[in-house]
This record gives sequence, structure tokens and C-alpha cells, in this order.
Amino acid sequence: MKNALKICYCGLLVALFLFCLTGCGKKEQVKSESSEPTKNIIVGFAQLGSESAWRNANTKSVKEAAKEAGITLIFRNAENNMEEQLKSIREFIMQQVDVIVLPPLVTEGWDEVLNEAKQANIPVIICDREIETDDPSLYVTFLGSDFVSEGVKAAEWLINATKDSNKTYNIVEIEGNVGSTPAIDRKKGFDSTVLKHPRFKILESTTGDFIRAKGRDIMNDMLKKYGNEIDVLFSHNDEMALGAIEAIEAYGLKPGKDILILSIDGQKEALEQIIAGKINVSVECNPLFGHDLMNAVKDLTSGKTLPRRIITKDNVFTIENAEKELPNREY
Ligand code: AHR
Repeated sequence: MKNALKICYCGLLVALFLFCLTGCGKKEQVKSESSEPTKNIIVGFAQLGSESAWRNANTKSVKEAAKEAGITLIFRNAENNMEEQLKSIREFIMQQVDVIVLPPLVTEGWDEVLNEAKQANIPVIICDREIETDDPSLYVTFLGSDFVSEGVKAAEWLINATKDSNKTYNIVEIEGNVGSTPAIDRKKGFDSTVLKHPRFKILESTTGDFIRAKGRDIMNDMLKKYGNEIDVLFSHNDEMALGAIEAIEAYGLKPGKDILILSIDGQKEALEQIIAGKINVSVECNPLFGHDLMNAVKDLTSGKTLPRRIITKDNVFTIENAEKELPNREY
């Protein structure tokens, strides 16, 4: 009898402990991955386009992370049209979403619409690409890669790979869309690093809008113009590098050998081309920041202060590590 009472008493204590542990009976809140609970958060995500495998992986990552976090995501895709992006943001303001997330197509021209969001008390997170503004209060934080450093890493690979040679290396550059931070900053990082060395010369730099077919067409034109003079291609993304490879092969040269190919993104197809010897280096730009973004949204809506910049970590892929990394690539 005494033992039975003891068992009952212990059982009660365990039940009481579990009751308190699960929030003392509160059941309206959904626990998310971060320490804070989330409840009916609505995010408007104004994606800029679907120009590359990178972009599609980014869209997927954000959508999946929102779903997992129990956050309602209103998704709009501007298909590389700034007017459409502006329209999406105004639509989110009308809908009174909790947070607006903007990967801006270009750096300039956002003040007016972001002021409208500010007047409506809707915080804005800028992701992937950055904006140019004199008013820091227009957005809470930036989350994405350091594009200058990506350009520097590509340049450093080239400097190191050619360090024993005395010849002058003629470089052609295929840039991302004009006025976007990846195009501006990758060029800044790359050019400023290689041009410290007199053995590098940039023959021409043209935009290919981050699109594979344009990369192929531009490389075609450059080959017609400079032919065998080209020693190096620096492409601002893998898609354009993959297009350029087609043009180089059609011209009868060997990509990766006759023309060194330096690129950015670290997408699966680029790693396959590294293994095949056709791309020499691809500096990673990580699009899979959906979870970090949703954590930032949860922190923001629960009143926490966010750092001004949240920078994702990027690797460098070459023949040394591409094979090992390939099975892990998600894009
Ligand atoms: O803003 C990131 C860039 O945009 C990626 O490098 C490119 O592939 C994409 O289109």
C-alpha cells in the first residue's frame, strides 16, 4: 500500500514537470527551429527572377525554410524586371505583411518604395544583393554573400596558378547584370587584385546578365575579335561560364587549358566541368540561406536586434576538392 502511494506520488510529479516543460498548458504557439516561438508570421518575398540554377536553388531554399518554420510566405517573381519588383513590394504593403524580403535586381532606385514600407511600419530585410541608399533606416539587415571577396578569391587563384610564368595574361570578363551588386563588386574585387600585377591585362569586360545563352554569345564575339590572344575568362557566374565553354569549343580551343576559366557560384554543373578539366575554379556563392533568413524573420518579429549584416560563408572549388564536394551539391 505504502509502495503504491509512492508510485502515485512520483507519477504526479513527473506529469507536473512535463506540463510545465511544454509551456504550462499554452497550445496556441508553434515552436520553430529558433529559440523563439512563431505565430502567424506573414512574409512577402519579392524574388528578382529565375535567370540561373543559383536563383532557382535560392527560391527553393526560401520556400522550404518558410514552410518548415510555419511562416506564411507570399512569393512573387519579377523575372528580372525592376518595375515588377516594385509592384510586388507595394502589393505586400497593401496586404500589411509582417516582413518584406527583397533581393534587389540592381542597387539603386529603392528609396521611395522602402519609405512607403517604413511609413506602413513594415520592416524590410535585404538579401542576396545590396542596395545603395543614404538612409540606413530603410532596412533592418542585409543577409547574403560578400561579392567583393568572391572576386578577390577568383583573382588570387589566377595569380597563384600563373606565378611561375613571365608571360602577360590577357583576360576577358563577362559581367552580371549592369548595376547589380554581384556585377559591381565581383569586378571590383577581381580587377583591383589582378591589376596589382603588371602581367595581367583586361582586354574587355561586357555584361551577360548572368544568363547562359548570353555568356555563349559574348564569348563568341570576343573570340571573333581577339581569337587566340585570350588567355583567361573571368565569368561572373557559372551559367555564363558554361555558355562560354560551348563557344570556346566551337571555336576549336580547349576551355580550362587554352583559356583558363574562372567563375562564381559553385553550382553542380560547374563542379562537373572542373572535374572534366574545362573550368579551373568556381568560387562559391551560397544561395541556400532560407533557414538563416527565416531565423532572422523570427528574431525580428519577436523584438530581437539583428546584426546590420549577416554574411554567408563561401568556399572555393578547384580540381583539388571538386570530386569530393560534388555529391553534396544541392544546386
Ligand atoms: O546575386 C547572385 C547572383 O545572381 C548569382 O551569382 C547568379 O548566378 C545569380 O543570377
